Amino acid sequence: MVVGPLTPGPLADQVLDLAATGRAGLAALLGDAAGRHALFRPGMRADRFLVATVGGELAGYLSLKHAGRGPFAPGPGDFIRCQGWRRGLHAWAVFSWIEARTRPRPGGAYIYGLDVLKPWRGHKRGRDVGGALMAAAVEAATRLGYASLDMEIRRPAIRALVRRAGAVPVVARPVSLTRLLMATAGDYERLTITLSPETRHGGA
Ligand SMILES: CC(C)(COP(=O)(O)OP(=O)(O)OC[C@H]1O[C@@H](n2cnc3c(N)ncnc32)[C@H](O)[C@@H]1OP(=O)(O)O)[C@@H](O)C(=O)NCCC(=O)NCCS
Repeated sequence: MVVGPLTPGPLADQVLDLAATGRAGLAALLGDAAGRHALFRPGMRADRFLVATVGGELAGYLSLKHAGRGPFAPGPGDFIRCQGWRRGLHAWAVFSWIEARTRPRPGGAYIYGLDVLKPWRGHKRGRDVGGALMAAAVEAATRLGYASLDMEIRRPAIRALVRRAGAVPVVARPVSLTRLLMATAGDYERLTITLSPETRHGGA
C-alpha cells in the first residue's frame, strides 16, 4: 500500500470526482450526486487530499481542512449557477452555517472526509487502509506545524477507526465558538488528536 499526497493525473481526477459527490446527507439542500458534483467539482483543491493505493489502484482517500481551506468551498456564485438565485442563495447560507462546524480550532487542522473504498474496508482482513490514511494525516498536519487534528464523526465504523488512531473527545472552553458549534452538532461528536510538539516543526 502506498499513501501520500494527491498529485495531478488520472488518479487525482478519480478521487476528486468521487469526493465531489460527498455530503450525501445534505442531498435535500445540495441536490443529488450529479448536482453535488456540478456544485463542488470546479473549485476543488487536490492539495487538500491524501490518497492510498494498492498496486496502483485507488483504495481510499482523506481530505484535510487547514489555513482556511478544505477540499472545496463553493461560494454564492456556484450555488446560483447550479440552483438559480433564490434557491441557490438560501442553500449557500444554510450550507455555510453547517460548514462552519467543520473548521479546525486555532492552531489546528481538521479531517474533513475519509473514505475507504468498499473492497478495502475492514482492517482485520489484512490491510489497514483507514489506519494508514489516519497516520498520514497526523504526519502531514504535524509537518505543517499544527497542534491538533480535529474531526466530527457520527457512525460507529468511523468512531472505532479514529479512536484506534488516538482520537479523544474535544473538551471545549465553556464560553467559546467551539462549544457553540459542538452544541449545534446534533448527534455528531467532535474528536481530536493532539499532535506531538517535539515532532511538530521540521518533522519527516
Ligand atoms: C468509515 C470507514 C472509513 C472505516 O473504514 P474501515 O477500513 O472499515 O475501518 P476499520 O477496519 O478500522 O473498521 C472500523 C470499525 O468499524 C466496525 N464497523 C464496520 N462497519 C460497521 C457498522 N456498520 N456498524 C458498526 N461497526 C462497524 C469495524 O468492525 C471496526 O471496528 P473494530 O475495530 O472494533 O473491529 C469506511 O467504512 C468508509 O469509508 N465508509 C464510508 C464513508 C464514511 O462513512 N466516512 C466517514 C465519514 S467522513
